[in-house]
Amino acid sequence: IERTLSIIKPDATKRNLTGKINAKFEDAGLRIVAQKRIQLTVDQAGQFYAVHKERPFFGELTEFMASGPVVVQVLEGEGAVLKNREVMGATNPADAAPGTVRAEFAESVGENSVHGSDAPETAAEEIAFFFSGLELVG
Ligand code: GTP
Ligand code: MG
Repeated sequence: IERTLSIIKPDATKRNLTGKINAKFEDAGLRIVAQKRIQLTVDQAGQFYAVHKERPFFGELTEFMASGPVVVQVLEGEGAVLKNREVMGATNPADAAPGTVRAEFAESVGENSVHGSDAPETAAEEIAFFFSGLELVG
């Protein structure tokens, strides 16, 4: 059974949207098998988003991710990576399908409420970035 790494971003934790977003995951059949609320430093956010280092928005992205608490979580289910991305909706909320997290809650392409791994291989790396095996309770 597949797992994916999800992050509820600072714009969403600030607005008390963790429960509403988790309800969308659970309604879609994704099980939250690990979850913790943490505050990243800009440096840690940069390590997590290292693939975007050369992008023009890297500084803005890492400052934003360190601007408040995030909820990092592991979601489990059949085809969890793709299923989660469907529930999240498109990166830019203006393009996100109705009913998705980003359509309902995201404020802009930068402050877009959630992160989700983009493939099973990156999911494994991203899960290991935040969680030890002991913290994963299937
Ligand atoms: P993630 O699940 O967060 O990885 O989103 P994604 O896969 O839909 O988007 P992508 O990996 O292309 O970009 C990673 C993150 O960078 C996005 O979720 C946004 O928060 C941010 N981002 C992407 N494009 C822009 C942009 O043009 N401006 C700003 N400020 N942030 C951006
Ligand atoms: Mg991405």
